[in-house]
Amino acid sequence: MPLHVIETGYGVPILWIHGFPLCSEVFANQLSIDGARHIVPDLPGLCRSDPPKDHMTIPDYARAVLGVLDERRVDKAVFAGLSMGGYIALAAARMAPQRMLGLILIDTRETPDSKEASQGRYMTISKVKLNGVGVVVDDMLPKMLTGNAPRSMVAGVKRIMSASTAEGVIAALAAMAERQDSSDLLPEIKVPALVIVGEKDTIAPLADAERMARALPNAKLVKIRGAAHLTNVECPAEFNAAVTEFLASVSF
Ligand code: MLT
Repeated sequence: MPLHVIETGYGVPILWIHGFPLCSEVFANQLSIDGARHIVPDLPGLCRSDPPKDHMTIPDYARAVLGVLDERRVDKAVFAGLSMGGYIALAAARMAPQRMLGLILIDTRETPDSKEASQGRYMTISKVKLNGVGVVVDDMLPKMLTGNAPRSMVAGVKRIMSASTAEGVIAALAAMAERQDSSDLLPEIKVPALVIVGEKDTIAPLADAERMARALPNAKLVKIRGAAHLTNVECPAEFNAAVTEFLASVSF
């Protein structure tokens, strides 16, 4: 299943893996980061990639994004995962650690869903089947950005979220509900890691980022005060400065 991919720039390959229900466009502000070859797929059924034909697991998404590197003959890359993208980056790290130059975990966590959270996702799936993706957009949009975000930014995020297909949203919800715990993996990730979190993130709060940064042997934690879940959208200058500094620590 070929994915829609944005690709630009020269330098260290960086595979940006977006969150839910978003797409490659959420990284628009990052494509200007110098010294990097940005490779940014849309996950299946989210924006311009075709919906998955079958049930998906988080490792299936990881295989799909590793396939994006294979198609380009890119052997190694920095994996940068935002929220659900972080779950996928960790699955890729388990599957193909030799392909990882560095790891950027953005507003995400390594732990699986609680029983209640998992049940909530299946309730959302039922609502999406009945009423479409607007249910998810209405629920999640207020948590993506802080109340200080400009209206145009909120409208841009809403447009991106609304472009997801119902099949893509349902597949992603089920995959997240069933995802495995990656806690055991973090101490094994020896490449440089950067953990970025918006201090006002309520979806993957600061405590999650602090715990991951402690468990990773070679990690730096960057907290962004003025951001909620989409730190890279809300505070792109601070976010990009952290990534630029991080890329200098990666051997390529
Ligand atoms: C995301 O932004 O990818 C999702 O909010 C992650 C989640 O729901 O666990």
